[in-house]
Amino acid sequence: MPSRRKFLQSTLLGSAAVLTGDTLWARPYKLIEQVINEPIVISTWDFGKAANVGAWEVLKKGGRAVDAVEAGVQIPEADETNQSIGYGGLPDRDGKVTLDACIMDEHYNCGSVMCLEHIMHPISVARMVMEKTPHIILVGDGALQFALANGFEKINLLTAKSEKDWKEWLKTAKYEPVKNIENQLYDKNKGQMPGGPNNHDTIGMLAMDAAGNFGGACTTSGMAFKMHGRVGDSPVIGAGLYVDNEVGGATATGVGEEVIRIVGAHLIVELMRQGYPPEAACKEGVERIIKRNPTRAKEVQVGFLAMNKKGQFGAYCLQKGFTYAVKSNKEEKIYTAQSIY
Ligand code: GLY
Repeated sequence: MPSRRKFLQSTLLGSAAVLTGDTLWARPYKLIEQVINEPIVISTWDFGKAANVGAWEVLKKGGRAVDAVEAGVQIPEADETNQSIGYGGLPDRDGKVTLDACIMDEHYNCGSVMCLEHIMHPISVARMVMEKTPHIILVGDGALQFALANGFEKINLLTAKSEKDWKEWLKTAKYEPVKNIENQLYDKNKGQMPGGPNNHDTIGMLAMDAAGNFGGACTTSGMAFKMHGRVGDSPVIGAGLYVDNEVGGATATGVGEEVIRIVGAHLIVELMRQGYPPEAACKEGVERIIKRNPTRAKEVQVGFLAMNKKGQFGAYCLQKGFTYAVKSNKEEKIYTAQSIY
């Protein structure tokens, strides 16, 4: 293992290697010094593809990254067939659909709502918290009161399909998180999730605009049939999402409790600041989860997605099956992240 002195020298000189947990990571490029001002948007899971299209409408016109990510994640929020985000999300064990979301811009401004009911677009309420209040987080009734006072419509988020799935779940009322179908519950008889095989988890989205500025958003209905009041990583700034306009951004998906324990997104951004490529930073993040509790890590899924100021992106996850979507002038593609297990 290299000495600390050598590590500092190599970092300061921007030479060929960066110290990771136990090994030297061969860096394929120098420390971030050259920003390519090309818009790009990336987001978690296959359904990120449709969300990216919404974000691209903003980015292609030269709009701000923060506007792009808000517009982008609104698409799955409004999609009732997506039972893990927004309208149509699976409810908690009491039958209430409670939503979590956060947003961050290029100036370290951030806003978050937790356990918000009755509002189609929690991401837009989070943005309003960011822009219209001196606070960062509003929760529960306070968040709803704020949303209604600012013109958001009160709706019933529980669709007939999600209500039916909840009533089915009540027959056994067991928590049984399934790898790759995230923190949702699995119907062993049907061999799939309530809501179908495409029902995954959170959408986390990161965008860089034509000016080279970053924005990020993260939104979810959280763990299906969770305890009322449970909040995962998604609306926790630094856990489910972090954006640092000097470095880039990171977001997370999967079992939120594991992500919060290591303050995942912030960890990954700080690793990129040290020179880690995005994929290596994400890998270090999931390895950190394993180090904290190897037994538990085998049983859950967590995926990280990151992008740096050069528009380089990467992801890593615990279990096979985490996908992410990318849209830029060069490509529109769904990638499969590498996994530890
Ligand atoms: N990652 C979403 C949650 O744990 O609620």
